[in-house]
Amino acid sequence: MDKLDLYIKKVESRLYDIFPAEDPDCAQVMQAARYSLSAGGKRIRPVLTLAFCEMCGGDADNALDAACAVEYMHTYSLIHDDLPCMDNDDLRRGKPSCHKAFGECTALLAGDALAILPFETIASSRTIPPPAAVKCIRALSHLCGMDGMIGGQQTDTANAGNELPGETLLRMYSRKTSALIKAACLCGVYCACSPDEERYAALAEDYGENLGLAFQIIDDILDVTSSTEVLGKPVGNDETLDKHTYVRSYGLARAEDAAREYTGKAVDALAGFPDNEFVRGITTLLLARKK
Ligand code: IPE
Ligand code: IPE
Ligand code: MG
Ligand code: MG
Ligand code: MG
Repeated sequence: MDKLDLYIKKVESRLYDIFPAEDPDCAQVMQAARYSLSAGGKRIRPVLTLAFCEMCGGDADNALDAACAVEYMHTYSLIHDDLPCMDNDDLRRGKPSCHKAFGECTALLAGDALAILPFETIASSRTIPPPAAVKCIRALSHLCGMDGMIGGQQTDTANAGNELPGETLLRMYSRKTSALIKAACLCGVYCACSPDEERYAALAEDYGENLGLAFQIIDDILDVTSSTEVLGKPVGNDETLDKHTYVRSYGLARAEDAAREYTGKAVDALAGFPDNEFVRGITTLLLARKK
């Protein structure tokens, strides 16, 4: 998929431009943040930001700073998620996780720095008009906060070993995974500054909610069915940590059905966008992802 590669390249070449200049006083934390950012990753969230901007009639390049902001936020969430006090994972994106390479204190700070950098990046952008920047910042901060990703991570970590009702499990997935994906799509919508923004934002939320649920269910499936070599992160850790997952509650076959069903709902939400072929393609690709 040429356009996907192009969008990934755009994001990766911009990711470090906005990075603060080298400063010997914080060399370690900056090195750690760069290390985790550059370790690879599918870059699916920032690609969605660019694609949603374009789908709403905007120029994808105008959303590049917002796309990088989303990837900073995501990378922070992974650094913290791997810490010994959370999932205690030693490997991420095929390399030793941040705390393994730099120690816990520096990894914690690198995560903190990457959680704040999105706001500076969006607020200082030369391509995002101030009213759109405020909307992006509001969406990102709300959806990554206690009512979003952090709330979901709290439910996840506090309930190891517990059986959760199906509804609570889905709410946890919605917060820990759908919320940031929703924010990624919404940032794209806001950067397009379309007269149809309100309608597009509602559709983007619907899409992000369903894609996120499918994405986390597939992540849980891969934790059981894939290998560390392919995934670039340890497999079997959900079971080791006694995590409550969709696979554990319903088994692999029903989890696969659910991933298909939520992907279908995400695709349905795209029908409201005029030129949705690219995002539809990515959505289908993600259902079949192997990592
Ligand atoms: C992993 O996200 C965390 C989840 C929400 C499941 P990704 O699978 O997008 O991780 P990278 O960015 O490709 O490493
Ligand atoms: C992570 O879920 C969700 C985040 C908000 C980072 P997981 O804990 O399942 O993600 P992986 O499997 O470590 O990537
Ligand atoms: Mg986790
Ligand atoms: Mg984890
Ligand atoms: Mg996982």
